[in-house]
Amino acid sequence: MSYYSKIIGTGKGLPETIMTNKDFEAFVETSDEWIRTRTGIAQRHIANPEKGESTLSLARKAAQNALQMANIPAQEIELIIVGTVTPESVMPTTANSLQRDLGAVNAFSFDLQAACSGFLYGLSIADQYIRSGSLKTALVVGAETLSTLINWQDRSTCVLFGDAAGAAILTRTDNKSHAILSTRTYSDGTRGDLLKIPHGYAACPPWRADYRPSEHKIKMQGSEIFKLAVRNMCDASMKVLEDNQLKVEDVDFFIFHQANIRIIEMCAKTLNVPLNKTWLNVDKYGNTSAATLPICLDEAWRAGAIKSGDKVLMTTFGGGITWGATLVQM
Ligand code: UT7
Repeated sequence: MSYYSKIIGTGKGLPETIMTNKDFEAFVETSDEWIRTRTGIAQRHIANPEKGESTLSLARKAAQNALQMANIPAQEIELIIVGTVTPESVMPTTANSLQRDLGAVNAFSFDLQAACSGFLYGLSIADQYIRSGSLKTALVVGAETLSTLINWQDRSTCVLFGDAAGAAILTRTDNKSHAILSTRTYSDGTRGDLLKIPHGYAACPPWRADYRPSEHKIKMQGSEIFKLAVRNMCDASMKVLEDNQLKVEDVDFFIFHQANIRIIEMCAKTLNVPLNKTWLNVDKYGNTSAATLPICLDEAWRAGAIKSGDKVLMTTFGGGITWGATLVQM
């Protein structure tokens, strides 16, 4: 008997506070007009630690919503993966703390660092465990508080990101017509310098004399990343289609990583996908890294834009660099 993974629940978690483009005009030389036209972003949500908002609290909210939709108790979860580059702490991991908070006593749990590809990589790993028959039910979360890694003086990056979490619950099925069909994951460490956080970790920990707080922030070569994002997301999307002997027209719905509306539009144009077959929320949330795909999936599914049996192609691109695509029949 062959096993597959079926997505049975999704959820999102957002901080309360909204920061608009206008708010940035007070401290960097930018404008609402520049941000909207160059990125498509109008606002983003930012976690407020004084309200108890953090990577963990957002992950918890997303996971609880997904559990509610799946209508299963947390005890059924056997694996928790949290994709994040802004973990609550490194030890215990965000996933370990989430396991505790959910009471998912039968799960083993770990964080996964793949920047914006964290959720897609996590989905692929959980799918392998389920397909191999090792376990039945897994929770995959993408959760970020990138506001903690933003250089608020750098106008070329500070306007791009937001805080959020998204989650999906997978369970074993033998019915391939409601399952993850296949996933392709890629990395290219030789291009790692294009999007990086130079200080703050083992290469230059905060107690070293040459540590600089300004280097413990996101640094990005935007236009290079832009071009690679388009090329790699399109390539990965074509690969998963080839794997399944499908064409672009056979796919019912596309979810592109929400980093910049121009990147999404260019991918859609290259692949010949009409924008009304995609979900867009970069205007509301900015780039929430590992959280963008599961949040789009959750919103599109709950809104009825994705229906049972639809073939959904999700693709992502992130720092490291990392990218990939997955094809799911819902
Ligand atoms: O999740 C994966 C990782 N991230 C991404 O995928 C993001 C990829 N990159 C991008 O989205 C775009 O490259 C950006 C939005 C970051 C920048 O857009 P761009 O069209 O590539 O602009 P640019 O970097 O070529 O900069 C054009 C000009 C520059 O001024 P000069 O040198 O022409 O005088 C920048 O200094 O725009 C300036 N600029 C700004 N101006 C006003 C950069 N940021 C801002 C800003 N407000 N916030």
